[in-house]
Amino acid sequence: MNVSRNKIAEEHGDFFPVSPKKDWSVGLLRIIWALVIFTGGAVLGLSVSAQYNQYLKTQTTELFFPTKMYTTNCGKEKLSIKNFVHPTYLLHDMTDEELFWRATLVPRIEVYPYNRKPKVAFMFLTRGPLPFAPLWDRFFRGHEGLFSVYVHALPQFNLNVSEASAFYGRQIPSEEVSWGSISLVDAEKRLLANALLDFSNERFVLLSESCIPVYDFPTIYKYLVNSKHSFVESYDEDSPQGRGRYSRHMYPNIKLYHWRKGSQWFELHRDLAINIVTDYQYYLIFSKYCKPSCYPDEHYIPTYSNMFHGELSANRTITWVDWSRDGPHPATYGNQNITEEFIQKIRNNKSLCTYNSELTSICYLFARKFAPEALDLLLDLTSKMINF
Ligand SMILES: *[C@@H]1O[C@H](CO)[C@@H](O)[C@H](O)[C@H]1NC(C)=O
Ligand SMILES: *[C@@H]1O[C@H](CO)[C@@H](O)[C@H](O)[C@H]1NC(C)=O
Ligand SMILES: *[C@@H]1O[C@H](CO)[C@@H](O)[C@H](O)[C@H]1NC(C)=O
Ligand SMILES: *[C@@H]1O[C@H](CO)[C@@H](O)[C@H](O)[C@H]1NC(C)=O
Repeated sequence: MNVSRNKIAEEHGDFFPVSPKKDWSVGLLRIIWALVIFTGGAVLGLSVSAQYNQYLKTQTTELFFPTKMYTTNCGKEKLSIKNFVHPTYLLHDMTDEELFWRATLVPRIEVYPYNRKPKVAFMFLTRGPLPFAPLWDRFFRGHEGLFSVYVHALPQFNLNVSEASAFYGRQIPSEEVSWGSISLVDAEKRLLANALLDFSNERFVLLSESCIPVYDFPTIYKYLVNSKHSFVESYDEDSPQGRGRYSRHMYPNIKLYHWRKGSQWFELHRDLAINIVTDYQYYLIFSKYCKPSCYPDEHYIPTYSNMFHGELSANRTITWVDWSRDGPHPATYGNQNITEEFIQKIRNNKSLCTYNSELTSICYLFARKFAPEALDLLLDLTSKMINF
């Protein structure tokens, strides 16, 4: 305080040099005046700045805990980068049309104005309860800031989990879904769009209530974030369940040689996710002409990616499933079927697959389907084998 006061006095001295000809008392008077004016100014300045700090503090609290969207001070909404790039609450009243539009906004400046750590969005598509939530919670524990969770359930369903759970407050505004219809694709796009609102989300994995992870979080995170490709299973199958589901009405926009089939359980890079949420033209063709026994969830994303973004995809899925028995549904594993060897075989069955143009023995990061009864057994096995 004293230092700066002296400094100001010196500056005043510079601007109004005390003439040696004048009486010394005039000079002294000037110095006293300068002191009085400065002290007044300093007191005023300090009190204003204290009030401003208080104001800032309130603002910061509002950013992190936005109980009110409006500041009490001026009654006007304040724009903030934090709420824009990282929405705290998932609830909104946007229609799909509005949501998809907003979700596909892409910044043209490539450098983010904040410290962006890429996150993996875990998107759960379920009708209701998530029996393996306790397993996932253990999987997520200690990795906050590197993932986000989204749940699309039936609209009337309320996920009841404790506040400590990664699933707490993570239900997105949802719509009815009837399995095998285009509404399933709508739900997938809705999950993607809600997750895209968070600009830190870099990878987007679709999961069901019967899915479990078969590696620990750091392994899965590294695998996904460092992958040059999205994992959209996509293949051409000359069978009634493959090409047989193509409709001639899709011609000429979609030709038979474009047609692909693949598992619904995708994993997407942000760029491909934005492209998929953006598409309406091909979505519309599927909604009109892909009806049972054509299942849009098995064809729309594989075909669309193949047509326009083939080079972005690894064309394989990272979610293990057992289709070995015939029928419309894959096998479900319960307490009687699950052993350490079984889990180990999903993690590494001695066959290799391609990852960033190199071969790896890690092909699957997730697996389905497991019966809810198997929770305790799986908790036990994963803590023993996978360390989470
Ligand atoms: C939610 O779960 C808690 C604890 O399991 C239980 O006490 C509560 O009744 C449940 N609430 C609802 C609405 O089901
Ligand atoms: C996946 O298939 C597309 C054709 O749709 C191809 O361009 C791409 O190279 C394939 N991806 C890999 C990793 O082989
Ligand atoms: C699981 O075990 C039961 C009883 O042994 C058997 O009936 C069922 O087919 C098995 N399921 C799978 C997927 O192996
Ligand atoms: C391992 O997995 C691959 C890919 O799913 C499959 O084709 C192969 O048959 C499996 N091998 C064994 C020994 O289970």
